[in-house]
Amino acid sequence: PGVLRVALLGYGVVGSQVARTLLQRADDLAARAGARLELTGIAVRDARRPREGVPAVVPADLLTEDAGSLVDGADLVIELMGGIEPARGLIHRAIAGGASVVTANKALLAAHGPELFEAADAAGVDLSFEAAVAGAIPIVRPVRESLAGDHVRRVLGIVNGTTNYVLDQMTTHGLELEEALKEAQGLGYAEADPTADVEGHDAAAKAAILASLAFHTRVSLSQVACEGITGITAADVAAAQQTGHVVKLLAIAEQTAEGVSVRVHPALVPVAHPLAAVRGAFNAVFVEADDAGPLMFYGQGAGGRPTSSAVLGDLVSAARDRMVGGRGPRESAYASLPVLPHDAA
Ligand code: HSE
Repeated sequence: PGVLRVALLGYGVVGSQVARTLLQRADDLAARAGARLELTGIAVRDARRPREGVPAVVPADLLTEDAGSLVDGADLVIELMGGIEPARGLIHRAIAGGASVVTANKALLAAHGPELFEAADAAGVDLSFEAAVAGAIPIVRPVRESLAGDHVRRVLGIVNGTTNYVLDQMTTHGLELEEALKEAQGLGYAEADPTADVEGHDAAAKAAILASLAFHTRVSLSQVACEGITGITAADVAAAQQTGHVVKLLAIAEQTAEGVSVRVHPALVPVAHPLAAVRGAFNAVFVEADDAGPLMFYGQGAGGRPTSSAVLGDLVSAARDRMVGGRGPRESAYASLPVLPHDAA
């Protein structure tokens, strides 16, 4: 079979798992992709920094601080650095060089998605992002592809694993937020800066991406009304329990006659509701469509292995597309629907 050169940008919780799987499962992946996926390098900020928990299977000489050159020599680029720059510049560079890109970077897509999708469409390469929303849960493809002939009315979900873990620990063990957050960080669920989790920004970015897919429009992060969980105490959670509720951070996107409304905020969910049963760092997304009716997607929303599953699925798809000279759906072809201002939400 042919060979496709894979550049990995970022070597954190998800990146190290992706590298490990690329090497350990190389034969299976080659059979599925129709080409060997050769990991040519891993871009990191400091290649000499001692790393704990790095898989022994990954040779240290794959690490490089020269992300630009790595990208220039690649057919497939996996961006797992997070944040806006240098991720944005490197993705543009990859696309301009004709590489297909797989990213888990929800913040970048929610803020700069349109320019990146346009660049990918112009270059005729894939820019895939299943891992950007709800970790392991296949949600991007179902909403974008399986429901392409339906009309989605509403998307409702728990899309941040860290805050769900924190609220769950506060509920079941009476922990305060800070304490539970430290645990979530230790388990590899939180963002590098966990402010994005607890303030709701991570969930808002995912809500913007889901709303864009569901309503075939462009919703950017700045259009999402957002309130996080930092104001919530163990006492609040206990009081909710007294009335038969659990506190959940919900992302809600709906299409009304006036336009699209997208918001993230803590909500009281009755214990009998299926969302109340979403524990730990799990996520769940409900989709209500005219013909399909209600759909529910459930699974692990954060963590190295779950998220790497979505990354590698995208990678195999992108490799297959390259091997047949085709490509996936065009993200830049969206129309624009009015998005309701925050105060109308
Ligand atoms: N910090 C994110 C979460 C990781 O907790 O859901 C997955 O995007």
